[in-house]
Amino acid sequence: MYIIKTIDNLYKKIQFFKKKQKKIGLVPTMGNLHLGHINLIILAKKYVDIVIVSIFINPMQFENSLDFKKYPQTFLKDCLILKNEKIEILFAPKISEIYPNGTNMHTYIQVPKLSKIIEGKSRPGHFIGVTTIIGKLFNLIQPNFAFFGEKDYQQLLIIKTFVKELNYPIKVISSPTIRLENGLAFSSRNKYLNDLELKKAPFLYKTIKDTINIIIKNNGNQLYETINFAKMSLTKKGFLVDIFNVYNSKTLDIFYKKNKNNIILASVWLGSTRLIDNKKFILPH
Ligand code: PAF
Repeated sequence: MYIIKTIDNLYKKIQFFKKKQKKIGLVPTMGNLHLGHINLIILAKKYVDIVIVSIFINPMQFENSLDFKKYPQTFLKDCLILKNEKIEILFAPKISEIYPNGTNMHTYIQVPKLSKIIEGKSRPGHFIGVTTIIGKLFNLIQPNFAFFGEKDYQQLLIIKTFVKELNYPIKVISSPTIRLENGLAFSSRNKYLNDLELKKAPFLYKTIKDTINIIIKNNGNQLYETINFAKMSLTKKGFLVDIFNVYNSKTLDIFYKKNKNNIILASVWLGSTRLIDNKKFILPH
């Protein structure tokens, strides 16, 4: 595995592989790798000859510097995991390599509607940071395929949208959320949870599933009451609910009874940790 830290060295390696007509796949990460990432790498290997994983804790997507500073950094452990997975390249640039003039006045990519709603409303600027870094990585690496988890569902839709609208010749492939047996989605942020919070956290996914069952049973009727009940149950358990609602899974428009393809998106606080999760469902008519 090559560990590359500079854009110059990255270009050289990319040119080398492109000349050999190798198919390149990118798995972008912020490190602190877990089974969700490994699953994306395994998926990537099915599509491409060369798997590149990037590790870059992107300051532009954090709304406050405290959250950025406390983001878990586990570089050596991540390297071992990646070596074990036998990927070809780890691209791990410094912030100054990616943003030599800082992030404040940086050119950015924005998907206007999707990045301002739901999670984007609670975290203004977050998705601009995500799309900008992903656009930069796409330009630097020119992958044929890029791989993202479905846990960050709004992020995934936003990336798919800008890839399409800005004509990037890249196929975006997604993989379902990887969970512990108790339902808790793998996330780098789980590291912040204490023992009690770790016991409570699976209740989020359970509530999402229970809510979907009720919505389907009621054929979409009494949605407001059903959602409120779910929010109350989460609150009683000790979660602070920010987002818990049903959306059209293709457009992220708010649910209305004629939607067939739906998704519950949830963002909650458990102590000082923000957890997100989701589940799609079809409402038969
Ligand atoms: O999902 C993440 O880990 C990040 O948002 C991403 C896509 C690597 C961009 O920094």
